[in-house]
Amino acid sequence: MNFEFTEEQLMIKEAARDYAQRELIHDVIERDEKSIFPEKHIKNLAALGFMGMMVDPKYGGSGMDTISYVLAMEELSKVDASVSVIVSVNNSLVCFGLSKFGSEEQKHKYLTPLAKGEIIGAFLLSEPEAGSDATHQHTTAEDKGDYYLLNGTKNWITSANSASTYIVIAQTYPEKRHKGINAFIVEKNSPGISLGPHEDKMGMRSSDTHSVMFTDVKVPKENRIGEDGFGFKFAMKVLEAGRIGIAAQAVGLASGAMERATAYSKERKAFGTELANHQSIAFKLADMAVKIENARNLCLKAAWLKDNNKQITIASAMAKQYSADMAMEVTTEAVQIHGGYGYVKEYHVERLMREAKLTQIYEGTSEVQKIVISRDVLKD
Ligand code: CAA
Repeated sequence: MNFEFTEEQLMIKEAARDYAQRELIHDVIERDEKSIFPEKHIKNLAALGFMGMMVDPKYGGSGMDTISYVLAMEELSKVDASVSVIVSVNNSLVCFGLSKFGSEEQKHKYLTPLAKGEIIGAFLLSEPEAGSDATHQHTTAEDKGDYYLLNGTKNWITSANSASTYIVIAQTYPEKRHKGINAFIVEKNSPGISLGPHEDKMGMRSSDTHSVMFTDVKVPKENRIGEDGFGFKFAMKVLEAGRIGIAAQAVGLASGAMERATAYSKERKAFGTELANHQSIAFKLADMAVKIENARNLCLKAAWLKDNNKQITIASAMAKQYSADMAMEVTTEAVQIHGGYGYVKEYHVERLMREAKLTQIYEGTSEVQKIVISRDVLKD
């Protein structure tokens, strides 16, 4: 096995680290406090090729591999997970879905501007009563001949307001259950679409999250992705790939908190010596380092499998579940090492802890990942 990164992968990691440490850091606390969408940063990251990282250059992408994407996600997330979730949804849900399953026309019309970062995309699956239980879609897409009529409500949609292209999952044939579900490309400015209020979230506060309501929204037939009834499989395939990005985000949150806790423990003195000289702190740091390395390796393995066109369902569920739960533990320990300073915004670790919580919830809760993993463990 080769555990070495290529020069190109290391350059991409360095470019992401440089942007995060030099640019994202400046106004991250204010963006979080006031829930300011990071428009300028998304434009800059688009110019650097980070919005369509794995898309073929033929469609405006950067043609990088998933390992590079994981490395970049980790670096961006160390500083600002609101930015990295916008990057992640655009790359691994929207662009990946269109690259893999879109028609040639759909790729030219929608994928190209998305991959260049000229516009951004959102993925609309979750509903008020269909979060983890994603087969029970209530949003309907009635087949009207040359168009579909969309009605229903989607919840917790990342980039709902700032995105101009939506991928919407909806039920066309309720009697067929998940086999009657379709996926559609929907333009946000279509008549009949309205947004709920901006969600006032605990963390990742500068990504814009809303519910989206559809009332008799006409969607052209050519905007359906794949065969009739392919929508649930499409969602599962896209989500299993997307989970690698969120796992890497969790690794970034943990390693960002770890970097801060390590630096702090070498500076701050208590009982006559630096915190790092107390074994209780040094051992905490050792435990954190091992957990982060485990999670990172799970992410990289899932990324490698994806790059080599192998099955990723279980590997990505394992990476997502372990990394998210690990990030919650490690960021909490980082706050503990900082003591009272950890509880105030200036030291960043309380924000990383709030952001880590979301990685256990979105793109499939830790419990959903355990459903996927345990079914595999228990299969005959
Ligand atoms: N690849 C291909 N097909 C798959 C699949 C996969 N990974 N997973 C399931 N399927 C197929 C199954 O084979 C089955 O097909 P057949 O009937 O033809 O055999 C069908 O889909 C139904 O599968 P299950 O019976 O396993 O479905 P289930 O209801 O028991 O559970 C689940 C599936 C894993 C719990 C699924 O519902 C799930 O992943 N839920 C979580 C949804 C989620 O991740 N939401 C996140 C929203 S997006 C988001 O958060 C983005 C953001 O803004 C950051």
